[in-house]
Amino acid sequence: MSTHPPTGHAHTADLVVFGGTGDLSMRKLLPALYHSDRDGRLSPETRVIAMSRGGLTDADFRGKVDAEVRDRVPVDDPAVWQRFLGRLHHVSVDVGGADRSGWNALSRTLAGHEPRDRVFYLASPPRTFGPFCRELAEAGLVTPRSRVVLEKPLGHDLPSAQRINDEVGAIFEERQIFRIDHYLGKETVQNLLVLRFANAFLEPVWNSLWIDHVQITAAETVGTPGRRGYYDHAGALRDMVQNHLLQLLTLTAMEPPARNDREAIRDEKVKVLQALRPIAGTEAHRFTVRGQYVGAGDMPGYLDEPASTPPTDASRQVETFTAIRAEVKNWRWAGVPFYLRTGKRMPYRRSEIVVQFKDVPHSIFPGGTPNRLVLRLQPEEGIELHIMAKEPGAGEVTLKPVPMSLSFGKTFTARVPEAYERLLTDVLDGNPTLFMRRDEVEAAWRWIDPILDAWKADPALPEPYPAGTTGPAGAHELLGRSGRAWHEEEM
Ligand code: BG6
Repeated sequence: MSTHPPTGHAHTADLVVFGGTGDLSMRKLLPALYHSDRDGRLSPETRVIAMSRGGLTDADFRGKVDAEVRDRVPVDDPAVWQRFLGRLHHVSVDVGGADRSGWNALSRTLAGHEPRDRVFYLASPPRTFGPFCRELAEAGLVTPRSRVVLEKPLGHDLPSAQRINDEVGAIFEERQIFRIDHYLGKETVQNLLVLRFANAFLEPVWNSLWIDHVQITAAETVGTPGRRGYYDHAGALRDMVQNHLLQLLTLTAMEPPARNDREAIRDEKVKVLQALRPIAGTEAHRFTVRGQYVGAGDMPGYLDEPASTPPTDASRQVETFTAIRAEVKNWRWAGVPFYLRTGKRMPYRRSEIVVQFKDVPHSIFPGGTPNRLVLRLQPEEGIELHIMAKEPGAGEVTLKPVPMSLSFGKTFTARVPEAYERLLTDVLDGNPTLFMRRDEVEAAWRWIDPILDAWKADPALPEPYPAGTTGPAGAHELLGRSGRAWHEEEM
């Protein structure tokens, strides 16, 4: 059987998903795989093997996917949907238990298909990563053509991330380890590299001489209903900043890599993380803000969200919003603040990178500002250049900020794929460029840990903000004290 991909197909692979019946799998992974199948990008023999404690048969699992996933995806040809269901298998496993039958069943399912790639996708809590990898090795299932995919969060601080990396690294080589940050699969994020490095006009102004500051926002309207168990111990800093926001920062700030190559790009990203000015001790009070949403209107506060257990001290301490003034200490960026902001229960769902250029050195017109490039990741992926224009009309010249917009959805007829679709295709192709390397993850934790320590040492609770607002007053002061403001227009 050939394992080489026919044109347009990814390699033939057995994709084994731990946590295969869980939320991520049903909401993101299976729909993404279906889209790939529908677009003819899955090799005909590729199989998806879900592992869970569930005790399901293949038929039960297919029935579950038919009931829960079919309505979320466009099924225009029932034969394609049936073909997709036919790829699905289920193996029950007793993780960490004495019962070996699940591992034996997985061995039997994989046996006879050895030449193909094996992808073990760990969509399970990080504490299971090491044990799963050991079990796979003990069952003799790790071949040189195997890869392992790790979902975030990768640990809760630097030592725990290092421990996980050591445990997984004892079984898999670094080239086989794919650490997911789904933000890297978003179209605008990849376009940021193309925008910066395939267009000559930006590079001369992409530095502290021309740029006043950068804002990176990931605002969500959702709260955390039913997620308190996870969120109490995560918080916005670990959940969003350590990974997604820092990834956006590195791509914005990195030097041009010498090649479009997995290592060259990741080398440059690591250098940015290593150049971040540490924020520790009392500096955390000046340069970071923590907030927690409280009830407003019909929206409950964080502590009142439905949860299986009552709130604890950890719940009261945890931040659902954070804003940080970061700085990249290198030649290109010296003195340029990078403001990071993320929060739950904000008034809008919006993720964007805003590059604010400096004002003109001498203005001959009244009013001014824009000079702003906005890279929008959601809700609608696109790029906007906000310029100053003259408002039409006779008489005095009146300036008006206007956006020159590129909406990917409107400009390109091809469907904009979901982040997981792109990333799963890359995993199946064995391309790790859009995945985090070990040193990258650890450099990010190295910067985050002192902030976590400073917060832990501070008895003050996070600043309250009413659900549905743009965060606590402190977030506005963080920019306001240098005469700046968050980009909020057209909200
Ligand atoms: C996840 C976080 O990584 O990203 C969630 O754990 C968050 O808390 C989600 O809601 C946001 O992703 P997106 O793609 O909707 O911005």
